[in-house]
Amino acid sequence: MLVDTKEMFKNAYDGGYAIGAFNVNNMEIIQGIIAGCAEKKSPVIIQVSAGARKYANPIYLRKLIEAAIEEHPEVPIAMHLDHGADADICRQCVDSGFTSVMIDGSHHDFEENIRLTKEVVEYAHAHGVVVEAELGKLEGVEDDVKVASGEGSYTDPDQAVEFVERTGCDSLAIAIGTSHGAFKFSGDPQLDFERLDIITKKLAGFPLVLHGASTVIPEFVEKCNQYGGNIPGAKGVPEDMISQATKSGVCKVNIDTDLRLAMTAMIRKELAENPANFDPRGYLKPARAAIQEMVMHKLDILGNVNHL
Ligand code: G3H
Ligand code: 13P
Ligand code: ZN
Repeated sequence: MLVDTKEMFKNAYDGGYAIGAFNVNNMEIIQGIIAGCAEKKSPVIIQVSAGARKYANPIYLRKLIEAAIEEHPEVPIAMHLDHGADADICRQCVDSGFTSVMIDGSHHDFEENIRLTKEVVEYAHAHGVVVEAELGKLEGVEDDVKVASGEGSYTDPDQAVEFVERTGCDSLAIAIGTSHGAFKFSGDPQLDFERLDIITKKLAGFPLVLHGASTVIPEFVEKCNQYGGNIPGAKGVPEDMISQATKSGVCKVNIDTDLRLAMTAMIRKELAENPANFDPRGYLKPARAAIQEMVMHKLDILGNVNHL
């Protein structure tokens, strides 16, 4: 069933687990995610980026997500806009039936981020839609925005309190050392858990969001490279760090890169091992199964199992 994230987050917060927010771009990814969540009995956030909208056409993604809702009415599904860059894209998603939108004003200064977020909150709340905002800057690439290494900035705990109070947002993405993509750390992975704990204490009961939370599981990187890929030096957030964050105030964990790696590794393998096959179903069916398996593994790590 289509829901917003309010009850999901409350249950997750109280239960010390987190909801997986998975990015989608096509039918197989959506099918793999919903099959995994149905099997694990887990509520889920299906999220669509501006890049996904450009790639697939927003109508197709919305209809495919509606199909997932129809196929598995027992699974609570939030339809979420990931990294909305301006009020306009947020309004479009609110108007087309999304239950949750993210306004990402993190690249603006504090006051402009507040102004923009407030504008979106007013519109979304008037239409019964919840809003995720972001304070602090993650490094890495998302759509057309690239934040260079060393130019990210961690979330200030006092500013976070002021930001939430003044904007009325429903959840807050924070920067504690994660980043988007497959190359998160050049040395040892490190997250600022002290900062996370302070923010959690200051914003008691308020749902926090961890972006850039893929683990970049070595087995999948190696499989890509084994079958003709070239992604050396990829490194993500270790799974024990993700679990630790879910025990603090983090209720939503964003995962895209790990799904991409699982799908690509499988497609590479299938094409390499079956060179005579030219039927896309031959390699997309196992790729879809690989997405499902990865999602189920993630749900275990997030502690989000048997929560329907
Ligand atoms: O935040 C970034 C997500 O992984 C979405 O990626 O903008 O390439 O669709 P994308
Ligand atoms: P990853 O690149 O770590 O999967 O992060 C995805 C994300 O934060 C989407 O908003
Ligand atoms: Zn993100």
